[in-house]
Amino acid sequence: MKIGIFISGTGTNMVAVCRNFLEKRLEGVDEISFVLSDKRNAPGLQKAEALGIKTIVLPKRKEQTREDYEAEMLKTIEPYNVGLLVLAGFMKVLGERFLGGFHGKIINIHPSLLPSFTGVNAQSQAFEYGVKVSGCTVHFVDSTLDGGPIIIQQPVFRKNDDTDETFRARILEQEHILLSKAVSIVCKGEYKIHGRYVVVLNQEEL
Ligand code: GAR
Repeated sequence: MKIGIFISGTGTNMVAVCRNFLEKRLEGVDEISFVLSDKRNAPGLQKAEALGIKTIVLPKRKEQTREDYEAEMLKTIEPYNVGLLVLAGFMKVLGERFLGGFHGKIINIHPSLLPSFTGVNAQSQAFEYGVKVSGCTVHFVDSTLDGGPIIIQQPVFRKNDDTDETFRARILEQEHILLSKAVSIVCKGEYKIHGRYVVVLNQEEL
């Protein structure tokens, strides 16, 4: 399957997926067709270029409505004909125009054990709440904030001497592993959806 990746920032999750692909460790993926950023200065763009992946910069213009922007995004990515879009630190919520117009699948990585701590800065939200365990989640995207069916999750336990930064870093380390696993599961079609529950086939590989 051909995939595209959306980013907004540093792009370390995107790099992890691209590296696994380039080193032939990403089963089910035939091509990473592009990395698209909605932020012109996203540091991830240079990282994608360095890996030889096509980059697209598409910021929302002030005069554009969300609908028009989403229509432009659809038109921009249409020629690539990707079956899967991977949101890897893409900080915009996609609306009905985009979700209705894109006919492939869309997945997102989120740095908490959903449904806890949705939205921005989930790691700090969890840290400040005082949880003993947080982690990361890859889920299908629907029009709700971080609310689509969960594909896989990885818990990360807080240590007594963790700071916000060390806890965040250990979660990120797990994100880098989890996202590629989810990409492969979806690209290989190794799942079934029962209502909200995603049954991952070949669970022993997780
Ligand atoms: C990651 O921690 C990702 O889970 C999070 O943004 C970070 C991007 O880092 N995404 C969200 O919070 C989405 N709600 P990266 O650009 O280095 O991959």
